[in-house]
Amino acid sequence: MLDKKVIKLLNQQVNKEFYSAYLYLDFANFYSAKGLDGFANWYEIQAMEERDHAMLFYRYLHNNNAGVELEAIDKPSVKLDSLMDPLKEGLKHEEYVTGLIHDLYSAAHEAKDYRTMQFLDWFVKEQGEEEVNANDMITKMELFGSDPKGLYMLNSELKSRVYSAPSLVL
Ligand code: FEO
Repeated sequence: MLDKKVIKLLNQQVNKEFYSAYLYLDFANFYSAKGLDGFANWYEIQAMEERDHAMLFYRYLHNNNAGVELEAIDKPSVKLDSLMDPLKEGLKHEEYVTGLIHDLYSAAHEAKDYRTMQFLDWFVKEQGEEEVNANDMITKMELFGSDPKGLYMLNSELKSRVYSAPSLVL
């Protein structure tokens, strides 16, 4: 049986990951309205990945006979004006999620819950990759975004991203 505090945080993470999916869909929606289908594609896939993350937490709770409680998902509240805004907000959000995963890891460690720690290892690594990707997007936009040709090329590059299921299977 998992520790009560760990169960609570795992449940909370289901909601946070679904919120991340919703936030990234909002970013895709923003770029789509601007005619930047590559940026929209990148964030649509990002949203799918976040839904996958939510489902991994959901399944992990079920696999450990812990209750899952689905809470309301907040409306994305980030104000988006410039083409750079979603990229900067995306990085901020990933740093926040990294903090949540680390808090969860600490709680599992405190409860000597080695199974949950091992489950979370994948997410610790994933968060590292997410932050690198978010930083790269900002750098590329800074370098090429102000030039129409550069923006066109960047949009084309982002359009080629394809969805793949997470490497962690439960
Ligand atoms: Fe679920 Fe972007 O981390």
